[in-house]
Amino acid sequence: MDSVVKDSRKAGERVGLKSESIIIKGGKPLSGTIEVRGAKNLVTKAMVASILGDSPSTLQNVPDISDVKVVAGLLNVHGVTTTEGENSGELILDPRNVERAHHADIDAHSGSSRIPILFCGPLLHRLGEAFIPDLGGCKIGDRPIDFHLDALRSFGAEVDKLPSGISLSAPDGLRGTKITLGYPSVGATEQVLLSATLAKGVTELRNAAIEPEIMDLILILQKMGAIITVEPNRVIFIEGVDSLNGFNHKAIPDRNEAASWASAALATGGDIFVRGALQADLVTFLNVYRKVGGAFDVKEDGIRFYHPGKPLKAVTFETDVHPGFMTDWQQPLIVALTQAEGTSVVHETVYENRFGFTDALNKMGADITIHEEGLDAADRRVARRPLEQAAVINGPTPLHAADVSVPDLRGGFSYLIAAMIAEGESRVNNVGIIARGYEHFIEKLEQLGADFKLV
Ligand code: EPZ
Repeated sequence: MDSVVKDSRKAGERVGLKSESIIIKGGKPLSGTIEVRGAKNLVTKAMVASILGDSPSTLQNVPDISDVKVVAGLLNVHGVTTTEGENSGELILDPRNVERAHHADIDAHSGSSRIPILFCGPLLHRLGEAFIPDLGGCKIGDRPIDFHLDALRSFGAEVDKLPSGISLSAPDGLRGTKITLGYPSVGATEQVLLSATLAKGVTELRNAAIEPEIMDLILILQKMGAIITVEPNRVIFIEGVDSLNGFNHKAIPDRNEAASWASAALATGGDIFVRGALQADLVTFLNVYRKVGGAFDVKEDGIRFYHPGKPLKAVTFETDVHPGFMTDWQQPLIVALTQAEGTSVVHETVYENRFGFTDALNKMGADITIHEEGLDAADRRVARRPLEQAAVINGPTPLHAADVSVPDLRGGFSYLIAAMIAEGESRVNNVGIIARGYEHFIEKLEQLGADFKLV
């Protein structure tokens, strides 16, 4: 069986989604209220951070998504218990009996997630060794882990690549070090934070990622007893401490999910109040949204996103590390751009293969051309990276129904939106993948008045 189909089934099953496909009748604007809870890209890391504590942690605002289940499974095979608390979205993590896991158990629980790599530092501190299976995650490029392994070696870990995965050991513990990342990688920055807090001495990290999810992880580590200083220009100092305690923390809301529903409102000519959406974490997205012609009202408890009725306008923008336009925001917005008047250009500068989803949009009638080598543009904010690509979107193009299969998380959500605006009945397959990062998306589509059935 195709690995995407297998991943999709497993991801769906983890959150009780039995159907593999959804048939959507397009043409209905999405309107109503939905809620976003904790950010997938913080919650999963916070769960890993709990291993570092010598007492239990409580994480709040945890969404019911498949990636959370994957990480819970991985924690469980390492002896960390995970129990639901009394309040909705409350997860209690007890790391007091952390232990070695069998390689086969780790493999079985790693799912299609990249989170196992972040277990390295915490497990090296607690057990003196760690094993990482082959990593999964969305197929959006090579996704190397060289920064992670170089960082771990620099802390003093021994790294052995085996046919089944990577085996690491640090019998004498980890030592503080100086690291400059080749690129402000989110995962590698988290790797350094999780490894440095209990290392002996001071760690200096340069060219660090500073995404809101990283800042929230730093808040968690500070609650646990860590000493972390964030300086200007992407420099972070971590002074190692002898021990850390558990934390009690409410995860920041998922800005990627919020931006996805915002794009759904715009593309379908709808009006969605996203309870929980936070303006501060979406500033760059909101600027582009407004330039395209989308409207939004920031309220105390969320943001209302809507199509104000006038034609949408073409835009040019590039994805970037924070505070730039996030790579996870481009896919849903590109569907709205197929309905804008004129030619839009989107440069993807973070991943080398994140426009694969546009093939299906073209099948549905969009006019999108991918330039594998990128394009020169006069108004670039950052220098070109060799791996970048550009998508040129000519609009407006009416979309028609098609049978499409979800390739990855964000691409998958963009297919749902495309099907919502296409004429006729579209079938979107492998929808389980969407459950990796979009909590109760089927129920939310229902709440917003979408016309669909699961098959
Ligand atoms: C995180 O991936 C997110 N995933 C991604 O979201 C997100 O798109 C990405 O950050 C960028 O914001 C999680 O948090 C689980 P990176 P991560 O390391 O940490 C290169 C989603 O759909 N690189 O910042 O894996 C890499 O190839 C997912 O929610 C190296 O070269 O991203 C890429 O070009 C998809 N060597 C760039 O850095 C390394 O060792 C950024 O990757 C590591 C990364």
